[in-house]
Amino acid sequence: MTIAYDRDSMNIPPLGPYLDPQKVVVVGGATGMGAATVRKLRESGRKVAVVDVNDAVLKSEAEFSTLGDVTDAEDIKRAIDECAAALGGIEALVCCVGINGRGTVDETEPAEWNRQFAVNAFGPYATSRAALPHLREAGGGAIVVLTSQVGVVGQAQNAAYCAAKAAAIHLVRCMAIDYAPENIRVNTVCPGITGPTGMFDSWLSLFPDEESRAAESQRQIETNLQKRIVHPDEIAAAAVFAVSNAAPGFIGQTIVVDGGYSIH
Ligand SMILES: NC(=O)c1ccc[n+]([C@@H]2O[C@H](COP(=O)([O-])OP(=O)(O)OC[C@H]3O[C@@H](n4cnc5c(N)ncnc54)[C@H](O)[C@@H]3O)[C@@H](O)[C@H]2O)c1
Repeated sequence: MTIAYDRDSMNIPPLGPYLDPQKVVVVGGATGMGAATVRKLRESGRKVAVVDVNDAVLKSEAEFSTLGDVTDAEDIKRAIDECAAALGGIEALVCCVGINGRGTVDETEPAEWNRQFAVNAFGPYATSRAALPHLREAGGGAIVVLTSQVGVVGQAQNAAYCAAKAAAIHLVRCMAIDYAPENIRVNTVCPGITGPTGMFDSWLSLFPDEESRAAESQRQIETNLQKRIVHPDEIAAAAVFAVSNAAPGFIGQTIVVDGGYSIH
């Protein structure tokens, strides 16, 4: 049987062209995957502004950079507004902020729980909230939040970080639903064990000596089905794809780049 398929009679709108954001703010872009994302965005000809709490951001080769703290809603709004003024608007946001910790619930003091949530969950919320008026003014755009593979699956002795990343992944889905009608696509890229980056080094520094650091490093490598650490450029490539008009149907998606860590 042949099924009649007529775009016009079915009221299906034409495909594209879709907005290809050119003015992009990267928050958490001083080091690691954020810095790699800045580089890849610039290589693709886009204009980039960078925000970070680490003053290394001021040495970034981006068009504009400023200090800003995602745990302070007013401060991150000030920083994002400065980026908009410098770029002449904002068409996409990539939020790469993160801090890690370690511990079961028993081992995690309330202050540490709150510190994890302030950066890893409140941070993407406050940053998106600051960027949304600018994206709206541009007629739409994209938000990409870097979260984690351990926001998708649980992990031993890492309760606060995993819970905060899971919250951020779900925040992405909720924002995707709320803002898709305004032509703003929201997605998350979940890195697996990735290095070299600031967080990869700081994770290993939580282990007391060279022997335990080497054992942990090997344990992390073994969780990747290719027996390797993901490179920051691989995460940056996924982030640039999710920003771009190559991904018009990606809305609220969890793009996991973890060498298969989370599938078994
Ligand atoms: N490296 C890994 O193995 C790994 C694995 C899974 C997920 N991640 C996630 O990937 C993202 C990038 O991390 P990375 O590994 O490149 O580490 P990184 O430390 O190099 O990058 C994180 C950046 O966030 C910035 N930042 C931290 N707190 C901030 C704040 N309050 N305000 C503004 N900026 C702040 C840091 O200064 C840093 O530049 C993070 O969301 C992290 O949680 C990393």
